[in-house]
Amino acid sequence: MKIGIGSDHGGFELKEYIKEYLDREGISYIDYGTNSIESVDYPDYGKKVSEAVVSKEVDKAVVICGTGIGISIACNKVKGIRCALCGDTYSARMSREHNDANILALGGRVIGRDLALEIVSIWLKTKFEGGRHEKRVEKISEIEG
Ligand code: RB5
Repeated sequence: MKIGIGSDHGGFELKEYIKEYLDREGISYIDYGTNSIESVDYPDYGKKVSEAVVSKEVDKAVVICGTGIGISIACNKVKGIRCALCGDTYSARMSREHNDANILALGGRVIGRDLALEIVSIWLKTKFEGGRHEKRVEKISEIEG
């Protein structure tokens, strides 16, 4: 499994912390930036990461901005993306089991670093349940046209 990771300046520090975790766990990833705390625009990074997921350059991804809101909105504009903004472990698990989320968004200025790692760990491990949830996810794709 290869993970994409990206953030704006508001998520940069948490992105680096998550990368250390991925390194420790031996999970391979591609970092799509940003590479410093210098101010940048979150839609640029949401788009880059989302396109990498859609083109299957990576299997899933984690994106971070200050609140997680802007970057998750941007990701969800890309056809094929189901980006879930999560601030707790239950939502993280459900976003995989029920919604088959392919991108996890986090708020770097909102949640603590260790809660973020728990969320990432659960989100990466949890599988889509399928079954009755399949047709609901298909209906989301139908909305995209
Ligand atoms: C940047 O200051 C901030 O607006 C951004 O990181 C994010 O929180 C947007 O939703």
